[in-house]
Amino acid sequence: MASRVYLKLAGLGIAASMICAMAGIGCTKNPDQTKMQYVPDMADSAALKSQRDFLQPPEGAVTRTAILYPATIEDAEKNLQNPIPPSAEASAQGKSLWNKFCIPCHGSAGDSNGSITDVYPKPPNIVAKDYPVHKDGFFFYTITFGGALMPSYGHAISPEERWLIAHYIHDLQRMAK
Ligand code: HEC
Repeated sequence: MASRVYLKLAGLGIAASMICAMAGIGCTKNPDQTKMQYVPDMADSAALKSQRDFLQPPEGAVTRTAILYPATIEDAEKNLQNPIPPSAEASAQGKSLWNKFCIPCHGSAGDSNGSITDVYPKPPNIVAKDYPVHKDGFFFYTITFGGALMPSYGHAISPEERWLIAHYIHDLQRMAK
């Protein structure tokens, strides 16, 4: 009789430790302490907060490859200078880029008669006589960030190419006069 009770208790003990093992818990009295450490290096590594780097960059730091753009289009127009001097070659390259990227909405002449303007909102006629005179920084910024309706092209058109397009926009405006 006594031995049968003992066997039953032993059975419960084995069952309990199997449950603990299956659940992956130590079942010790101290909840912070596990009986066995699986892969101790990982368990003991310095805890990092999620989404954080080991070293926090100093306040206001930017990546070495960052291009710092002016915050507003007015700033861009005032402070950004086209580093590429106007030339026939710059215009030719600007034209080729315009014809690749801008033509569907703005049209080949810049008069907003692009082929998709029957379904897509018409952009302003940027070669119209009453269109304000803008400096290259304005066009650079518009190409980089787009507008309320115009898509941004900063990811697809390099800064150099944006300056070439700015030259060509002036050519289109001169041609429309
Ligand atoms: C998918 C159509 C679309 C394409 C492609 C497009 N634009 Fe536009 N663009 C617009 C629309 C619409 C506007 C009107 C402003 C707004 O609300 O975004 C605009 C406005 C402009 C303006 C006038 C901004 C102003 O306020 O006077 C310029 C300059 C311009 N685009 C240049 C370009 C250049 C350069 C390209 C090619 C790199 C280009 N756009 C490609 C649709 C387009």
